[in-house]
Amino acid sequence: MAEKDITVDELATFCKRKGFVFPSGELYGGLAGFWDFGPLGVELKNSIKRSWWKTFVHSRADVVGMDGAIVTHPKVWEASGHVAHFVDVAVVCKKCKQKSKIDKHEVGKAVCSNCGGELLVKGEFNPMFSTSVGAIKEEALGAYLRPETAQLIFANFKSLTDVSRVRLPFGVAQQGKAFRNELSPREFIFRCREFEQMELEYFISKGMVCPYMDELGDTELQLYSSEMQESGKEMKRMKLFDAWKSGVIKTDWHAYWLGQMYFWFISLGASPEKFRARQHLGTEKSHYAIDTWDLEYQFPMGWRELAGFANRGDFDLKQHEKVSGKSLTMLDPVLGKVVPDVVCEPSLGVERAFMVFLLDAYRYDSERESVVLELDPQLAPFKAGVFPLISKGECLEIAKELFRDLMDEFPVQFDVSGSIGRRYARADEQGTPWCVTVDEDSVRDRAVTVRDRDTTKQIRVPISALRETIRDLLYDKVGFEDAGTPIETRKK
Ligand code: GAP
Repeated sequence: MAEKDITVDELATFCKRKGFVFPSGELYGGLAGFWDFGPLGVELKNSIKRSWWKTFVHSRADVVGMDGAIVTHPKVWEASGHVAHFVDVAVVCKKCKQKSKIDKHEVGKAVCSNCGGELLVKGEFNPMFSTSVGAIKEEALGAYLRPETAQLIFANFKSLTDVSRVRLPFGVAQQGKAFRNELSPREFIFRCREFEQMELEYFISKGMVCPYMDELGDTELQLYSSEMQESGKEMKRMKLFDAWKSGVIKTDWHAYWLGQMYFWFISLGASPEKFRARQHLGTEKSHYAIDTWDLEYQFPMGWRELAGFANRGDFDLKQHEKVSGKSLTMLDPVLGKVVPDVVCEPSLGVERAFMVFLLDAYRYDSERESVVLELDPQLAPFKAGVFPLISKGECLEIAKELFRDLMDEFPVQFDVSGSIGRRYARADEQGTPWCVTVDEDSVRDRAVTVRDRDTTKQIRVPISALRETIRDLLYDKVGFEDAGTPIETRKK
Protein backbone atom coordinates (compact mmCIF):
# COMPACT_ATOMS: atom_id res chain seq x y z
CA MET A 1 0.00 0.00 0.00
CA ALA A 2 1.11 3.54 -0.66
CA GLU A 3 2.11 5.16 2.64
CA LYS A 4 1.02 8.56 1.37
CA ASP A 5 0.37 10.29 -1.92
CA ILE A 6 3.38 12.17 -3.20
CA THR A 7 3.48 15.89 -3.84
CA VAL A 8 4.20 17.42 -7.22
CA ASP A 9 7.65 18.50 -6.01
CA GLU A 10 8.42 14.94 -4.90
CA LEU A 11 7.30 13.68 -8.30
CA ALA A 12 9.58 16.19 -10.03
CA THR A 13 12.53 15.09 -7.86
CA PHE A 14 11.83 11.42 -8.58
CA CYS A 15 11.52 12.11 -12.33
CA LYS A 16 14.85 13.91 -12.38
CA ARG A 17 16.64 11.26 -10.31
CA LYS A 18 15.42 8.37 -12.47
CA GLY A 19 15.84 10.08 -15.84
CA PHE A 20 12.20 10.71 -16.73
CA VAL A 21 12.21 14.53 -16.92
CA PHE A 22 14.90 17.19 -16.53
CA PRO A 23 14.48 20.98 -16.39
CA SER A 24 15.53 22.21 -19.82
CA GLY A 25 18.69 24.32 -20.00
CA GLU A 26 19.59 23.44 -16.41
CA LEU A 27 23.28 23.73 -17.23
CA TYR A 28 22.68 27.46 -17.68
CA GLY A 29 20.20 27.97 -14.86
CA GLY A 30 17.08 26.54 -16.56
CA LEU A 31 14.36 28.04 -18.73
CA ALA A 32 11.00 28.18 -16.97
CA GLY A 33 8.23 26.22 -18.65
CA PHE A 34 10.52 24.03 -20.78
CA TRP A 35 11.38 20.43 -19.96
CA ASP A 36 13.54 17.71 -21.48
CA PHE A 37 12.59 14.06 -21.35
CA GLY A 38 15.35 11.57 -20.42
CA PRO A 39 15.77 7.90 -21.40
CA LEU A 40 12.81 6.66 -19.36
CA GLY A 41 10.66 9.75 -19.97
CA VAL A 42 10.84 9.55 -23.74
CA GLU A 43 9.79 5.88 -23.61
CA LEU A 44 6.84 6.62 -21.33
CA LYS A 45 5.77 9.62 -23.40
CA ASN A 46 5.97 7.62 -26.65
CA SER A 47 4.02 4.75 -25.08
CA ILE A 48 1.25 7.17 -24.03
CA LYS A 49 1.08 8.65 -27.52
CA ARG A 50 1.14 5.22 -29.18
CA SER A 51 -1.66 3.91 -26.95
CA TRP A 52 -3.79 7.02 -27.57
CA TRP A 53 -3.28 6.75 -31.34
CA LYS A 54 -4.12 3.03 -31.30
CA THR A 55 -7.31 3.65 -29.31
CA PHE A 56 -8.58 6.79 -30.98
CA VAL A 57 -7.34 6.34 -34.57
CA HIS A 58 -6.27 2.79 -35.47
CA SER A 59 -9.10 1.06 -33.60
CA ARG A 60 -11.80 3.24 -35.19
CA ALA A 61 -13.13 3.18 -38.73
CA ASP A 62 -14.46 6.73 -38.38
CA VAL A 63 -11.19 8.57 -37.55
CA VAL A 64 -8.22 9.51 -39.75
CA GLY A 65 -4.98 11.16 -38.67
CA MET A 66 -2.81 14.04 -39.80
CA ASP A 67 0.37 15.84 -38.74
CA GLY A 68 0.49 19.59 -39.35
CA ALA A 69 3.33 22.11 -39.26
CA ILE A 70 4.26 23.89 -36.03
CA VAL A 71 4.96 27.27 -37.66
CA THR A 72 1.69 28.28 -39.19
CA HIS A 73 0.57 31.01 -41.58
CA PRO A 74 -0.51 34.05 -39.52
CA LYS A 75 -3.86 34.17 -41.32
CA VAL A 76 -4.77 30.82 -39.74
CA TRP A 77 -4.64 32.43 -36.29
CA GLU A 78 -6.39 35.61 -37.40
CA ALA A 79 -9.24 33.53 -38.81
CA SER A 80 -9.42 31.25 -35.78
CA GLY A 81 -9.80 34.25 -33.47
CA HIS A 82 -6.62 33.46 -31.55
CA VAL A 83 -4.96 36.79 -32.42
CA ALA A 84 -7.89 38.82 -31.13
CA HIS A 85 -9.40 36.64 -28.40
CA PHE A 86 -6.73 34.28 -27.05
CA VAL A 87 -5.98 36.79 -24.34
CA ASP A 88 -5.36 36.46 -20.62
CA VAL A 89 -4.99 39.12 -17.95
CA ALA A 90 -1.67 39.17 -16.09
CA VAL A 91 -2.00 39.79 -12.35
CA VAL A 92 0.31 39.89 -9.37
CA CYS A 93 -0.73 39.33 -5.76
CA LYS A 94 -0.31 42.46 -3.64
CA LYS A 95 0.46 40.28 -0.60
CA CYS A 96 2.60 37.26 -1.65
CA LYS A 97 3.73 38.69 -5.03
CA GLN A 98 2.79 35.51 -6.91
CA LYS A 99 2.30 36.20 -10.64
CA SER A 100 -0.58 34.49 -12.40
CA LYS A 101 -3.15 34.90 -15.14
CA ILE A 102 -6.90 35.23 -14.91
CA ASP A 103 -9.67 35.37 -17.49
CA LYS A 104 -10.99 38.79 -18.49
CA HIS A 105 -14.32 38.16 -16.77
CA GLU A 106 -12.54 37.51 -13.46
CA VAL A 107 -11.04 41.00 -13.20
CA GLY A 108 -12.22 42.56 -9.93
CA LYS A 109 -13.59 39.20 -8.67
CA ALA A 110 -10.63 36.80 -8.49
CA VAL A 111 -8.28 36.64 -5.50
CA CYS A 112 -4.76 35.16 -5.27
CA SER A 113 -4.90 31.35 -5.61
CA ASN A 114 -1.90 31.07 -3.27
CA CYS A 115 -2.83 33.28 -0.30
CA GLY A 116 -6.24 34.81 -1.07
CA GLY A 117 -4.68 38.28 -1.35
CA GLU A 118 -5.87 41.15 -3.54
CA LEU A 119 -4.71 41.05 -7.18
CA LEU A 120 -3.08 43.89 -9.09
CA VAL A 121 -3.81 43.85 -12.85
CA LYS A 122 -0.58 44.18 -14.86
CA GLY A 123 -2.18 44.14 -18.31
CA GLU A 124 -3.47 41.86 -21.04
CA PHE A 125 -1.27 39.44 -22.95
CA ASN A 126 -1.60 37.00 -25.82
CA PRO A 127 0.35 33.82 -25.08
CA MET A 128 1.12 32.96 -28.71
CA PHE A 129 4.84 32.75 -29.51
CA SER A 130 5.66 34.73 -32.63
CA THR A 131 8.52 34.08 -35.02
CA SER A 132 9.56 35.27 -38.45
CA VAL A 133 9.80 33.21 -41.60
CA GLY A 134 12.58 34.12 -44.05
CA ALA A 135 16.28 34.71 -43.46
CA ILE A 136 16.32 38.35 -44.61
CA LYS A 137 14.90 40.38 -41.76
CA GLU A 138 13.26 43.12 -43.85
CA GLU A 139 11.46 40.58 -46.05
CA ALA A 140 10.50 38.10 -43.32
CA LEU A 141 6.87 37.16 -42.71
CA GLY A 142 5.63 37.30 -39.12
CA ALA A 143 4.19 33.93 -38.09
CA TYR A 144 3.17 32.04 -34.95
CA LEU A 145 4.09 28.76 -33.32
CA ARG A 146 0.76 26.96 -33.05
CA PRO A 147 -0.91 27.31 -29.62
CA GLU A 148 -3.11 24.27 -30.36
CA THR A 149 -2.80 21.48 -32.92
CA ALA A 150 -6.52 21.58 -33.69
CA GLN A 151 -6.45 24.57 -36.01
CA LEU A 152 -4.35 22.70 -38.59
CA ILE A 153 -7.21 20.24 -38.98
CA PHE A 154 -9.61 23.07 -39.88
CA ALA A 155 -7.10 24.78 -42.19
CA ASN A 156 -6.57 21.44 -44.01
CA PHE A 157 -10.22 20.46 -43.98
CA LYS A 158 -10.71 20.68 -47.75
CA SER A 159 -7.65 18.54 -48.56
CA LEU A 160 -8.48 16.06 -45.81
CA THR A 161 -12.04 15.48 -46.97
CA ASP A 162 -11.04 15.45 -50.66
CA VAL A 163 -8.50 12.66 -50.16
CA SER A 164 -9.79 10.46 -47.40
CA ARG A 165 -13.32 9.63 -48.62
CA VAL A 166 -14.73 10.13 -45.12
CA ARG A 167 -18.47 10.38 -44.52
CA LEU A 168 -20.20 12.04 -41.59
CA PRO A 169 -19.87 11.49 -38.69
CA PHE A 170 -16.07 11.26 -38.65
CA GLY A 171 -13.06 12.53 -36.77
CA VAL A 172 -9.58 13.81 -37.57
CA ALA A 173 -6.86 13.27 -34.97
CA GLN A 174 -3.49 14.85 -34.47
CA GLN A 175 -0.65 14.68 -31.97
CA GLY A 176 2.16 17.17 -31.67
CA LYS A 177 3.82 20.14 -30.07
CA ALA A 178 1.95 23.28 -29.07
CA PHE A 179 3.41 26.45 -27.59
CA ARG A 180 2.02 29.02 -25.18
CA ASN A 181 4.05 31.77 -23.56
CA GLU A 182 2.42 31.10 -20.20
CA LEU A 183 2.77 33.93 -17.70
CA SER A 184 3.58 31.63 -14.82
CA PRO A 185 4.50 28.09 -15.85
CA ARG A 186 4.34 25.99 -12.71
CA GLU A 187 3.49 22.74 -10.99
CA PHE A 188 6.21 20.72 -12.73
CA ILE A 189 5.05 19.79 -16.26
CA PHE A 190 1.40 20.65 -15.59
CA ARG A 191 1.68 24.10 -17.18
CA CYS A 192 4.53 24.33 -19.70
CA ARG A 193 5.41 26.79 -22.43
CA GLU A 194 6.20 23.96 -24.84
CA PHE A 195 4.00 20.87 -24.57
CA GLU A 196 2.30 18.22 -26.67
CA GLN A 197 -1.36 17.79 -27.42
CA MET A 198 -3.41 14.83 -28.61
CA GLU A 199 -6.54 16.24 -30.21
CA LEU A 200 -9.50 14.91 -32.13
CA GLU A 201 -12.01 17.04 -34.01
CA TYR A 202 -15.24 15.08 -34.36
CA PHE A 203 -17.45 16.33 -37.19
CA ILE A 204 -21.20 15.73 -37.57
CA SER A 205 -24.03 17.19 -39.55
CA LYS A 206 -26.42 19.12 -37.27
CA GLY A 207 -28.73 16.81 -35.32
CA MET A 208 -26.86 13.55 -36.06
CA VAL A 209 -27.30 11.14 -33.17
CA CYS A 210 -24.40 9.24 -31.65
CA PRO A 211 -24.74 5.58 -32.67
CA TYR A 212 -22.23 4.37 -30.07
CA MET A 213 -24.07 5.21 -26.83
CA ASP A 214 -24.41 1.57 -25.78
CA GLU A 215 -20.60 1.47 -25.39
CA LEU A 216 -21.06 3.61 -22.26
CA GLY A 217 -22.91 0.78 -20.51
CA ASP A 218 -23.40 1.68 -16.84
CA THR A 219 -20.25 3.80 -16.62
CA GLU A 220 -20.51 6.37 -13.85
CA LEU A 221 -18.52 9.53 -13.40
CA GLN A 222 -18.65 12.39 -10.89
CA LEU A 223 -20.29 15.30 -12.73
CA TYR A 224 -20.15 18.97 -11.87
CA SER A 225 -22.40 20.89 -14.26
CA SER A 226 -22.41 24.68 -14.54
CA GLU A 227 -25.84 24.65 -12.85
CA MET A 228 -24.44 22.70 -9.86
CA GLN A 229 -21.53 25.12 -9.56
CA GLU A 230 -23.69 28.23 -9.84
CA SER A 231 -26.25 27.03 -7.30
CA GLY A 232 -23.60 25.91 -4.81
CA LYS A 233 -24.49 22.20 -5.10
CA GLU A 234 -22.05 19.31 -4.65
CA MET A 235 -20.85 17.37 -7.68
CA LYS A 236 -22.90 14.24 -8.33
CA ARG A 237 -21.92 10.70 -9.36
CA MET A 238 -24.11 9.73 -12.33
CA LYS A 239 -24.26 7.22 -15.13
CA LEU A 240 -23.05 9.08 -18.21
CA PHE A 241 -25.98 7.72 -20.20
CA ASP A 242 -28.49 8.98 -17.60
CA ALA A 243 -26.71 12.35 -17.44
CA TRP A 244 -27.36 12.77 -21.14
CA LYS A 245 -30.96 11.48 -20.96
CA SER A 246 -31.78 13.88 -18.11
CA GLY A 247 -30.13 16.86 -19.83
CA VAL A 248 -27.24 17.36 -17.39
CA ILE A 249 -24.95 16.74 -20.38
CA LYS A 250 -26.59 18.38 -23.38
CA THR A 251 -25.44 16.16 -26.24
CA ASP A 252 -25.06 12.41 -26.55
CA TRP A 253 -21.67 13.07 -28.25
CA HIS A 254 -20.30 14.92 -25.23
CA ALA A 255 -21.30 12.06 -22.88
CA TYR A 256 -19.82 9.54 -25.32
CA TRP A 257 -16.42 11.23 -25.75
CA LEU A 258 -16.05 11.97 -22.03
CA GLY A 259 -16.66 8.27 -21.47
CA GLN A 260 -14.16 7.19 -24.14
CA MET A 261 -11.35 9.27 -22.67
CA TYR A 262 -12.18 8.14 -19.13
CA PHE A 263 -12.12 4.47 -20.30
CA TRP A 264 -8.71 5.01 -21.90
CA PHE A 265 -7.22 6.36 -18.66
CA ILE A 266 -8.76 3.63 -16.52
CA SER A 267 -7.70 0.87 -18.92
CA LEU A 268 -4.12 2.04 -18.40
CA GLY A 269 -4.26 1.93 -14.61
CA ALA A 270 -5.40 5.42 -13.59
CA SER A 271 -7.56 5.58 -10.40
CA PRO A 272 -11.26 5.94 -11.33
CA GLU A 273 -12.13 7.89 -8.16
CA LYS A 274 -9.73 10.69 -9.06
CA PHE A 275 -11.70 11.73 -12.16
CA ARG A 276 -14.64 14.07 -12.59
CA ALA A 277 -16.21 15.97 -15.49
CA ARG A 278 -16.80 19.68 -14.93
CA GLN A 279 -18.76 21.92 -17.28
CA HIS A 280 -17.36 25.37 -18.05
CA LEU A 281 -19.35 28.29 -16.70
CA GLY A 282 -20.72 30.60 -19.37
CA THR A 283 -18.03 33.16 -18.54
CA GLU A 284 -15.06 30.80 -18.86
CA LYS A 285 -15.81 29.31 -22.29
CA SER A 286 -13.28 29.91 -25.09
CA HIS A 287 -14.27 32.30 -27.87
CA TYR A 288 -15.08 29.36 -30.20
CA ALA A 289 -17.03 27.16 -27.79
CA ILE A 290 -20.77 26.55 -27.54
CA ASP A 291 -20.43 24.21 -24.56
CA THR A 292 -17.30 22.77 -22.90
CA TRP A 293 -16.74 20.03 -20.36
CA ASP A 294 -13.33 19.31 -18.85
CA LEU A 295 -12.25 15.90 -17.67
CA GLU A 296 -10.57 16.84 -14.40
CA TYR A 297 -8.19 14.83 -12.24
CA GLN A 298 -7.50 15.23 -8.55
CA PHE A 299 -3.82 16.20 -8.74
CA PRO A 300 -1.87 16.68 -5.47
CA MET A 301 -2.52 20.44 -5.84
CA GLY A 302 -6.31 19.91 -6.28
CA TRP A 303 -8.83 19.31 -9.07
CA ARG A 304 -7.31 20.46 -12.36
CA GLU A 305 -8.14 20.23 -16.07
CA LEU A 306 -6.72 17.12 -17.65
CA ALA A 307 -8.53 17.24 -20.99
CA GLY A 308 -11.03 19.61 -22.59
CA PHE A 309 -14.11 18.66 -24.63
CA ALA A 310 -15.42 21.70 -26.50
CA ASN A 311 -18.41 21.81 -28.81
CA ARG A 312 -16.97 24.21 -31.42
CA GLY A 313 -19.93 24.03 -33.80
CA ASP A 314 -19.06 25.35 -37.26
CA PHE A 315 -17.17 28.37 -35.85
CA ASP A 316 -13.72 27.42 -37.18
CA LEU A 317 -14.69 26.22 -40.66
CA LYS A 318 -16.97 29.23 -41.20
CA GLN A 319 -14.21 31.61 -40.04
CA HIS A 320 -11.69 30.06 -42.44
CA GLU A 321 -14.23 30.31 -45.27
CA LYS A 322 -14.75 33.98 -44.46
CA VAL A 323 -11.07 34.95 -44.19
CA SER A 324 -9.74 32.77 -47.06
CA GLY A 325 -12.69 33.40 -49.36
CA LYS A 326 -12.68 29.68 -50.22
CA SER A 327 -15.45 27.16 -49.72
CA LEU A 328 -14.94 24.52 -47.04
CA THR A 329 -18.03 22.50 -47.81
CA MET A 330 -17.46 18.79 -48.07
CA LEU A 331 -19.29 16.37 -50.28
CA ASP A 332 -20.83 13.69 -48.09
CA PRO A 333 -21.96 10.66 -50.13
CA VAL A 334 -25.31 10.61 -48.29
CA LEU A 335 -25.94 14.23 -47.26
CA GLY A 336 -24.44 16.04 -50.24
CA LYS A 337 -22.67 19.39 -49.72
CA VAL A 338 -22.30 20.40 -46.09
CA VAL A 339 -20.14 22.48 -43.72
CA PRO A 340 -20.17 20.18 -40.69
CA ASP A 341 -20.05 20.99 -36.96
CA VAL A 342 -17.38 19.92 -34.50
CA VAL A 343 -19.77 18.53 -31.91
CA CYS A 344 -16.92 17.55 -29.60
CA GLU A 345 -13.17 18.11 -29.51
CA PRO A 346 -11.45 15.74 -27.06
CA SER A 347 -8.16 17.55 -26.41
CA LEU A 348 -5.55 16.14 -24.03
CA GLY A 349 -2.06 17.31 -23.07
CA VAL A 350 0.57 14.55 -23.14
CA GLU A 351 2.43 16.02 -20.14
CA ARG A 352 -0.71 16.01 -17.99
CA ALA A 353 -1.44 12.40 -18.93
CA PHE A 354 2.21 11.62 -18.12
CA MET A 355 1.76 13.08 -14.63
CA VAL A 356 -1.48 11.16 -14.02
CA PHE A 357 0.03 7.79 -14.94
CA LEU A 358 3.11 8.42 -12.79
CA LEU A 359 1.12 9.69 -9.80
CA ASP A 360 -1.16 6.65 -9.88
CA ALA A 361 1.73 4.21 -10.42
CA TYR A 362 4.06 5.55 -7.70
CA ARG A 363 4.08 3.44 -4.53
CA TYR A 364 6.60 3.34 -1.72
CA ASP A 365 6.88 -0.27 -0.57
CA SER A 366 7.94 -0.25 3.06
CA GLU A 367 8.78 -3.97 3.05
CA ARG A 368 11.04 -3.62 0.03
CA GLU A 369 12.17 -0.18 1.28
CA SER A 370 12.01 1.21 -2.21
CA VAL A 371 9.70 2.78 -4.73
CA VAL A 372 7.73 0.45 -6.97
CA LEU A 373 6.41 2.14 -10.10
CA GLU A 374 3.33 0.10 -10.92
CA LEU A 375 2.91 1.37 -14.46
CA ASP A 376 0.66 -0.58 -16.77
CA PRO A 377 3.01 -2.85 -18.78
CA GLN A 378 1.79 -1.15 -21.99
CA LEU A 379 3.24 2.12 -20.69
CA ALA A 380 6.35 0.82 -18.88
CA PRO A 381 9.55 2.20 -20.47
CA PHE A 382 11.08 -1.30 -20.44
CA LYS A 383 8.93 -4.41 -20.70
CA ALA A 384 11.57 -6.68 -19.15
CA GLY A 385 15.02 -6.67 -17.54
CA VAL A 386 17.57 -9.42 -18.12
CA PHE A 387 19.95 -10.10 -15.23
CA PRO A 388 22.73 -12.72 -15.25
CA LEU A 389 23.31 -13.89 -11.67
CA ILE A 390 26.95 -14.63 -12.50
CA SER A 391 28.55 -11.98 -14.69
CA LYS A 392 30.85 -14.31 -16.58
CA GLY A 393 30.97 -17.63 -18.39
CA GLU A 394 27.98 -19.46 -19.80
CA CYS A 395 25.50 -17.69 -17.50
CA LEU A 396 26.50 -14.31 -18.97
CA GLU A 397 26.43 -15.69 -22.53
CA ILE A 398 22.91 -17.07 -22.14
CA ALA A 399 21.74 -13.74 -20.67
CA LYS A 400 23.25 -11.78 -23.56
CA GLU A 401 21.62 -14.08 -26.07
CA LEU A 402 18.24 -13.72 -24.35
CA PHE A 403 18.63 -9.95 -24.23
CA ARG A 404 19.37 -9.82 -27.97
CA ASP A 405 16.38 -12.05 -28.72
CA LEU A 406 13.93 -10.06 -26.56
CA MET A 407 15.10 -6.65 -27.77
CA ASP A 408 14.06 -7.68 -31.24
CA GLU A 409 10.47 -7.32 -30.10
CA PHE A 410 10.33 -5.24 -26.88
CA PRO A 411 12.29 -2.45 -25.18
CA VAL A 412 14.36 -4.42 -22.63
CA GLN A 413 17.18 -3.58 -20.24
CA PHE A 414 20.31 -5.54 -19.33
CA ASP A 415 21.83 -5.15 -15.88
CA VAL A 416 24.93 -6.91 -14.57
CA SER A 417 25.94 -4.57 -11.78
CA GLY A 418 25.30 -5.02 -8.05
CA SER A 419 23.47 -7.68 -6.09
CA ILE A 420 20.34 -9.20 -7.62
CA GLY A 421 18.33 -7.37 -4.91
CA ARG A 422 19.74 -4.01 -6.06
CA ARG A 423 18.99 -4.85 -9.66
CA TYR A 424 15.37 -5.76 -8.83
CA ALA A 425 14.99 -2.54 -6.82
CA ARG A 426 16.33 -0.46 -9.72
CA ALA A 427 13.96 -2.17 -12.15
CA ASP A 428 11.00 -1.69 -9.76
CA GLU A 429 11.70 2.04 -9.59
CA GLN A 430 11.80 2.22 -13.37
CA GLY A 431 8.48 0.40 -13.63
CA THR A 432 9.86 -2.69 -15.42
CA PRO A 433 7.07 -5.28 -15.03
CA TRP A 434 9.13 -8.47 -15.37
CA CYS A 435 12.73 -9.32 -14.47
CA VAL A 436 14.39 -12.34 -16.05
CA THR A 437 17.21 -13.88 -14.03
CA VAL A 438 19.70 -16.30 -15.57
CA ASP A 439 21.29 -18.43 -12.83
CA GLU A 440 23.60 -21.46 -12.47
CA ASP A 441 20.67 -23.82 -13.07
CA SER A 442 19.84 -22.11 -16.39
CA VAL A 443 22.97 -23.59 -17.93
CA ARG A 444 21.71 -27.07 -17.05
CA ASP A 445 17.89 -26.87 -17.35
CA ARG A 446 17.69 -24.19 -20.10
CA ALA A 447 15.11 -22.27 -18.05
CA VAL A 448 15.08 -18.83 -16.37
CA THR A 449 13.34 -17.20 -13.43
CA VAL A 450 10.79 -14.48 -14.22
CA ARG A 451 9.83 -12.15 -11.37
CA ASP A 452 6.67 -10.06 -11.24
CA ARG A 453 7.26 -6.41 -10.22
CA ASP A 454 4.05 -5.87 -8.24
CA THR A 455 3.86 -9.13 -6.27
CA THR A 456 7.56 -10.26 -6.39
CA LYS A 457 6.20 -13.73 -7.24
CA GLN A 458 8.47 -15.84 -9.41
CA ILE A 459 7.94 -18.48 -12.09
CA ARG A 460 10.35 -20.70 -13.97
CA VAL A 461 10.03 -20.46 -17.76
CA PRO A 462 11.90 -22.48 -20.44
CA ILE A 463 14.26 -20.23 -22.43
CA SER A 464 12.61 -21.43 -25.63
CA ALA A 465 9.23 -20.08 -24.41
CA LEU A 466 10.45 -16.80 -22.86
CA ARG A 467 9.69 -14.43 -25.72
CA GLU A 468 6.19 -15.79 -26.15
CA THR A 469 5.62 -15.68 -22.38
CA ILE A 470 6.54 -11.97 -22.21
CA ARG A 471 4.28 -11.35 -25.19
CA ASP A 472 1.37 -13.18 -23.52
CA LEU A 473 1.89 -11.31 -20.25
CA LEU A 474 2.15 -7.96 -22.02
CA TYR A 475 -1.05 -8.44 -23.99
CA ASP A 476 -2.86 -9.93 -20.98
CA LYS A 477 -3.35 -13.30 -22.66
CA VAL A 478 -2.28 -15.09 -19.52
CA GLY A 479 -2.09 -14.40 -15.77
CA PHE A 480 1.39 -14.32 -14.24
CA GLU A 481 1.11 -17.54 -12.28
CA ASP A 482 -0.21 -19.44 -15.29
CA ALA A 483 2.69 -18.30 -17.45
CA GLY A 484 5.27 -20.74 -16.02
CA THR A 485 5.99 -23.02 -13.06
CA PRO A 486 5.52 -21.09 -9.78
CA ILE A 487 8.59 -21.12 -7.56
CA GLU A 488 9.16 -19.99 -4.01
CA THR A 489 9.15 -16.19 -3.84
CA ARG A 490 12.39 -14.65 -2.70
CA LYS A 491 12.10 -11.21 -1.11
CA LYS A 492 14.61 -9.47 -3.35
N1 GAP B 1 -7.84 22.84 -29.01
C1 GAP B 1 -8.39 23.11 -27.73
C2 GAP B 1 -7.41 23.47 -26.72
O1 GAP B 1 -6.24 23.67 -27.02
P1 GAP B 1 -7.12 23.85 -24.15
O2 GAP B 1 -8.07 23.55 -23.03
O3 GAP B 1 -6.51 25.19 -24.19
O4 GAP B 1 -7.94 23.54 -25.47
C3 GAP B 1 -6.28 21.40 -24.27
O5 GAP B 1 -5.97 22.76 -24.14
C4 GAP B 1 -5.40 20.56 -23.37
O6 GAP B 1 -4.01 20.85 -23.63
C5 GAP B 1 -5.56 20.86 -21.88
O7 GAP B 1 -6.65 20.15 -21.35
C6 GAP B 1 -4.24 20.36 -21.33
O8 GAP B 1 -4.25 18.96 -21.16
C7 GAP B 1 -3.27 20.73 -22.43
N2 GAP B 1 -2.60 22.03 -22.13
C8 GAP B 1 -3.07 23.26 -22.39
N3 GAP B 1 -2.19 24.19 -22.00
C9 GAP B 1 -1.14 23.54 -21.47
C10 GAP B 1 0.11 23.93 -20.90
N4 GAP B 1 0.46 25.23 -20.82
N5 GAP B 1 0.97 22.98 -20.46
C11 GAP B 1 0.64 21.68 -20.55
N6 GAP B 1 -0.52 21.23 -21.10
C12 GAP B 1 -1.39 22.15 -21.55
